[in-house]
Amino acid sequence: VGREEINTDIVTLTRYLNEEQTKVKDATGDFTLLCHALQFSFKSIAYYIRRASLINLSGLAGSSNTTGDDQKKLDVIGNDLFIAAMKSSGRVRVLVSEEEEEAIIFDVPNAKYAVVCDPIDGSSNLDAGVSVGTIFGIFRLEEGSKGTKDDMLRPGTDLVAAGFTMYGASAQLVLTMKGGDVNGFTMDNSLGEFILTHPQMQMPKSRSIYSANEGNSKYWDEATLEWVNEIKQAEKPYSARYIGSMVADAYRTLLYGGIFAYPADKKSPKGKLRILYECAPMAMVFENAGGQAVNSKMERMLTIVPLDIHDRSGIFLGSYDEVQKVIDIHKKHG
Ligand code: AHG
Ligand code: MN
Ligand code: MN
Ligand code: MN
Repeated sequence: VGREEINTDIVTLTRYLNEEQTKVKDATGDFTLLCHALQFSFKSIAYYIRRASLINLSGLAGSSNTTGDDQKKLDVIGNDLFIAAMKSSGRVRVLVSEEEEEAIIFDVPNAKYAVVCDPIDGSSNLDAGVSVGTIFGIFRLEEGSKGTKDDMLRPGTDLVAAGFTMYGASAQLVLTMKGGDVNGFTMDNSLGEFILTHPQMQMPKSRSIYSANEGNSKYWDEATLEWVNEIKQAEKPYSARYIGSMVADAYRTLLYGGIFAYPADKKSPKGKLRILYECAPMAMVFENAGGQAVNSKMERMLTIVPLDIHDRSGIFLGSYDEVQKVIDIHKKHG
């Protein structure tokens, strides 16, 4: 292999975070340390997911969470790993997790950040070996706040950073900062480092791929039914792709283009996906990659304020033009 074929100027997540920090006037380094703790949580969750069936960690934990989901053993382990990483960082004051009924307030009075997370997204797929992931968002505490769950009941536009890690063929981290671009990192297991492999991700403006659980379509509203029939009857019908792990469906949609939909419907009037740790972080990633994200009332997802930390919403998420199609049809229905 010739010298020119080896990339020796490798950008690790660590280097990327250090370079980002130098761009911030009088940065304290707290955000960087928080992101290092996040990085470790992804590495440790990936480690257990990949060995689950070898060490009897598959299957149900025998408990359920606040939103009524049966908890898998890995939901609980992933949650505990994430909490330990955030707590030991000493930079997080408040943590909201899908698997915790109440917000956790860490005893670090000077910490400035609040974190939301879905430790294992797509956990119903775990025993089938299908890709799952971790979704996260980071808020700065409100001025003068000592850290309460009200620091969380805020619109996604307040997020300072968000993203997800998909534990697929390799562990893929997608990270975006407020008003910034979207960067993808791939875990190199031999180095034990996330390597920048997808710098400045930008979505295709349109793509004929739709991703929805049509098993719910008998409960969908008229406008949603008109949309899905229109794309299925199109001159060139759309392809259907549905993995059932939001992280995996979102990652494919981010890379290939298309649209992911989990509409609110007659069965789930508030929708299924949780605003704080599923809809808002994904909406921030997709908007920063040039896409759109709206709820079932066609309101911009990032403006939605959750009524409680586990509040849910319908969501349409994807290429700008594909989401616009849904918006235009809903406008016709008034
Ligand atoms: P979680 O595993 O964190 O509870 O999330 C599951 C979510 C999301 O990952 C996925 O898009 C959706 O549930 C799938 O729901 P259906 O099985 O109803 O399609
Ligand atoms: Mn769940
Ligand atoms: Mn989830
Ligand atoms: Mn989950």
